[in-house]
Amino acid sequence: MDKIVINGGSPLRGSVEISGMKNAAMPILYACVMVEDKCIIENVPNVRDVALSLDILRGMGAKIRTLGKNTVEIDCTDVRQGSSRPELARRIRGSYYLLGAEFGRFGKAKAAYPGGCDFGGRPIDQHVRGFEALGATVTTDSSSCVEVDSENGPVGANIFFDFVTVGATINVMMAAVLAEGTTVIENAAREPHIVDLANFLNTCGARISGAGTDVIKIKGVDRLHGCTYAIIPDMIEAGTYMVAAAATGGCVRVTNVIPKHLESVSAKLEEAGAIVDEFDDAVIVTGRDKLRKANIKTHPYPGFPTDMQPQMAVLLCIAGGVSYVSEGVYEKRFRYVEELLKMGAVIKVDGRTAVIEGGRPLHGAEVQAVDLRGGVAMVIAGLIAQGTTEISDIYLIERGYDDIVGKLRALGADIKKISYPDPDEEPLKKAN
Ligand code: EPU
Repeated sequence: MDKIVINGGSPLRGSVEISGMKNAAMPILYACVMVEDKCIIENVPNVRDVALSLDILRGMGAKIRTLGKNTVEIDCTDVRQGSSRPELARRIRGSYYLLGAEFGRFGKAKAAYPGGCDFGGRPIDQHVRGFEALGATVTTDSSSCVEVDSENGPVGANIFFDFVTVGATINVMMAAVLAEGTTVIENAAREPHIVDLANFLNTCGARISGAGTDVIKIKGVDRLHGCTYAIIPDMIEAGTYMVAAAATGGCVRVTNVIPKHLESVSAKLEEAGAIVDEFDDAVIVTGRDKLRKANIKTHPYPGFPTDMQPQMAVLLCIAGGVSYVSEGVYEKRFRYVEELLKMGAVIKVDGRTAVIEGGRPLHGAEVQAVDLRGGVAMVIAGLIAQGTTEISDIYLIERGYDDIVGKLRALGADIKKISYPDPDEEPLKKAN
């Protein structure tokens, strides 16, 4: 198992360029299944979940060519319905976008029940309700697979989600693009990656309006054509470097960002005493000696993102005063706290709230990445801790962070990756 080793204490300084957004890349890559033509996708992040998704699509018959470091050409003309390899698909969450894409194109879909980070129960009932509203019969077996079936493909309908869900909004929007008639999704999620997916699909000939608001209208079309499309910058990767800059008392220019997407993170950093300067496509974050407490409650966009909760919690460990961090999206997203305690943090978790007694210096320790964002939070903790921190299970961090070690080294961090052979990867490699 690979590890990241950090000798903490160096303030981050310099400039870091943000990659394409993982959570936009995933639906856009799977949406290519609906296009019987070539799509050229640019600004694709070099992260594990994307590499695995490309493997899944290749295994289904997609022709994929790498045209540059971050550009791929995908031709899904010959993709076979229901042929995704379950042992790959169940390793990530994003593979469930195959359901919406296959249902749209073939009128039926089959994929493994999705995996992803462990935050307690992650049901897919709203996806199922949405597909059923579009005329499908859905069978789910949480231990194996999900099957969507219909007589004549999706038929437009009005859908009101019980609560805001990114995944179900995306899945239903995808299927509705090739449905007969018009679909209206109410109480839709408003995340920037939903807008990005809608822009991609519209560039392919779809007729989606209202993405980015809570009502999305989709007029079904007969077919989609290929296009060239660039994925938006990753606001969570950007937010992670912003927090790392502030927490280490450094000064970092974070480039290739859309500052509007970062407003909730910028506001919290300023509340905690950091300085955030915004430019057209960059932000500069300057840390201060004395950071102060701030309370956080995570919400769907435009609220403070759940995917920034663990990183911000690390900063609050060294900020003066008592901070309250409430998780408003997931049942259990505090598994990383146990690891932070090993580094000297003082945090009590009560249900969905963590109470952080700040102003405590962190010290290096052997810790584990428990999930993607919980893992990167350990990297930030290692950067500010006195002494050496060793982080295991870093493949979880690499699921969503493009060259994190290289980018942090360029900012002056004393960080390295130590590689060991990965026993879990072997059986899959052999099966290829
Ligand atoms: N939920 C249900 N039923 C459903 C769908 C969702 O109960 O049918 C619940 C979930 O269990 C959760 C909440 O609703 O408690 C919100 O789930 P949502 O559908 O919004 O999230 P997701 O599609 O499972 C995506 C990202 C997550 C990110 C969330 C929220 C991908 C592949 N995953 O998950 O990303 O936290 O949206 O923004 O896009 C990450 O990148 O680290 C990550 C976890």
